[in-house]
Amino acid sequence: MIRTEILATGIYVPPNLVKNDDLKEMMDTSDEWIRQRTGIEQRYWADENTSTSDLALEAAKKALENAKIDKSELDMIIVATLSPDHEFPGTACFLQKKLGVPGIPALDVRQQCTGFIYSMSIADQFIKTGMYKKILVVGAELHSKGLEKNQNGREVAVLFGDGAGAAVLAAKDVKDLKNDSYIYSTHLHADGNFAEELWVPGPGTGNGPQRVNDSKMNEGYHFPKMNGKTVFMNAVKRMPEAVMEALNANGLKIEDIDLFIFHQANLRINDMVAKQFNIPEEKVFNTIQKFANTTAATLPIGMDEAVRAGKLKKGMLVASAAFGSGFTWGSTIYRY
Ligand code: UT7
Repeated sequence: MIRTEILATGIYVPPNLVKNDDLKEMMDTSDEWIRQRTGIEQRYWADENTSTSDLALEAAKKALENAKIDKSELDMIIVATLSPDHEFPGTACFLQKKLGVPGIPALDVRQQCTGFIYSMSIADQFIKTGMYKKILVVGAELHSKGLEKNQNGREVAVLFGDGAGAAVLAAKDVKDLKNDSYIYSTHLHADGNFAEELWVPGPGTGNGPQRVNDSKMNEGYHFPKMNGKTVFMNAVKRMPEAVMEALNANGLKIEDIDLFIFHQANLRINDMVAKQFNIPEEKVFNTIQKFANTTAATLPIGMDEAVRAGKLKKGMLVASAAFGSGFTWGSTIYRY
């Protein structure tokens, strides 16, 4: 039976390391506040000449190399990002150009923190139906050019980092459903009633007569706005729900999962989710300390880091869940 295997991953973060203390020059914050409230110790921010598709390209090249496949074998590219190179066309088109694989479909997914799970799910459907055999799925974010790096934006600005993670997903004729490596299932949700709890209001067509509104620009409508407490409260509710949904769909229990790789928005969110299920600490793999929140890139970065740390090995059963702007949330279980 045709199922989807995660062949390999690759990541890229820009070289410029920004420690919590470095942010004190821009806003009234402290290493202590950021660590205590979020677990973040540092993040990487790209330079002015880098774009999201540049980060995506480097991650994609590493994933292809690790998967030992040539780019010409790809049937499709999916890029999840909320920080596109341009409003249109999609960042997947720019990545495709830089990677040098014209002709195959290139699709952008705009589901923010849940973008990678949505993208995995889309790729999984194309592969299971037999339409495509190999799909490059990338989560890439360049937040640093879009953050309000001053007192006004400090609650949001300290949370986000730049980076990209890519995975090569491939068709596999699965013979042993219990032991072979493949994606067991994906579960997707959204509730647009909460769209304005974490969003960038403009530029956009929802702002009156002109897409770009100068006076709103002066008020900073192009910077992200977040109701942090509402996001937090919903995340600690929806992520466990999504984990349970995935476990139930596959007749599995928490104890059956070898490793949990959750979205990295706040270490306290992940600790609370783990506590609700009594998951032992060593079974949860977090990267937020090192990279901060890279939105659509957190899950592939987590996978790749876990592989290199020796925490994720072939044959292990992994559960992932994510929650974020939209609100969107979702989960997946796969055998790596
Ligand atoms: O990927 C999904 C997207 N995002 C999330 O999931 C984020 C979810 N929310 C959160 O992680 C948390 O709500 C935050 C980390 C954003 C904030 O933590 P909190 O414990 O909810 O803090 P708070 O909103 O209660 O703020 C506490 C105080 C406030 O001061 P006062 O009013 O108590 O005097 C803030 O003004 O901390 C202040 N504050 C800061 N202080 C230093 C807010 N941002 C900062 C900052 N540095 N960067």
